[in-house]
Amino acid sequence: MSSAVVADATFGVESWAYVAIRAVQFVAIIVLLGVLSLRLVVLPRIRRLDGDRDDVMAAALSRMFAFALAAIGAIGAATVARLAAQHAAMFGTEEHWSRTTIGALLLQSGWGRGWWLALAGALAGWGATGARARRHGVAWPVLAAATGALVVSLSLSGHPAAAEQPILAVAIDALHVIGAGGWVGSLGMLMVIAVPVALRSPDAESHRYVARLVTAFSPTALAFAAVAALTGTLAAWRNIGSLAALWSSSYGQLLLAKLALLSVAAGTGAYNWKRVLPGLGTAPATHRLQRSASVELAAACVVLIVTAVLVATPMPAELAGTTGP
Ligand code: HEM
Repeated sequence: MSSAVVADATFGVESWAYVAIRAVQFVAIIVLLGVLSLRLVVLPRIRRLDGDRDDVMAAALSRMFAFALAAIGAIGAATVARLAAQHAAMFGTEEHWSRTTIGALLLQSGWGRGWWLALAGALAGWGATGARARRHGVAWPVLAAATGALVVSLSLSGHPAAAEQPILAVAIDALHVIGAGGWVGSLGMLMVIAVPVALRSPDAESHRYVARLVTAFSPTALAFAAVAALTGTLAAWRNIGSLAALWSSSYGQLLLAKLALLSVAAGTGAYNWKRVLPGLGTAPATHRLQRSASVELAAACVVLIVTAVLVATPMPAELAGTTGP
């Protein structure tokens, strides 16, 4: 949502209420991407590496659907709340809802296209997590398509839509969110779904299984983090316009804050990879992993909150009239 549409200071795109709605949306989409990456990338790698443990897989699958459903519910609620927030931001809180205002919002703006796509993604995601889709074996492809729609919908209602080459900017932004979800989301789902399910059995084998889970997860997380870093840098270059704007503008300062928080998440991730992973296989090592992964996830959550402010902050390149791709 461009800052150009701010009409109401009490409930504009930069208000805390709107920031909270976007943060919920970001966290939920990252959870969905995490569920998908666990199911489609990480768990199949374990199967290839050293066979399957059907008990763990079956229990993990039902929890994955539960998390996906919760994320879809949060996105549905955020989508409705966003409509109210955007109405207040565009027309002020005093203005009543009418055909004219809703029509202008949903039928005559790029923001509206993003909103419809988010609604379609939320409905398709809801269908994907239902018993019928599971019975027909289409739950995962439909959930993947729905998540793709939700990811693109974010870009359509944000800064990329205002770029000089919007298709390229939207593609870079969508890849950025996929990279972020494949890293942070799948770490989250690994720690709250796969590891607890693996630890249900009391034997020592459960800790060795945790080691195999993290071994399968690490290279994929690294690849997704690289995608997030590359596309994030491209988006930053497009939005900032000049190096000086990095410290002289609010946008640049928020981006620096995001990078500082990211260095905590990335540093903890590197520690997990280099120091924690090689020693996994015992109960103390599993606890060490749980502690350091919590730090990484907490830092990533704050990154998402900062990003929820960043995406509604006027871009220096926009103010200077030089938006890149
Ligand atoms: C080197 C790493 C990264 C850099 C340089 C970076 C930079 C950026 C930039 C410049 C934007 C565009 C903001 C705008 O529209 O004005 C953005 C968006 C975003 N970033 Fe990052 N980011 C990085 C890593 C991450 C990570 C690890 C996460 C997840 C925890 C993340 C989550 C997001 C989200 C959710 C968006 C919003 C996308 C949208 O609304 O379409 N980023 N990032």
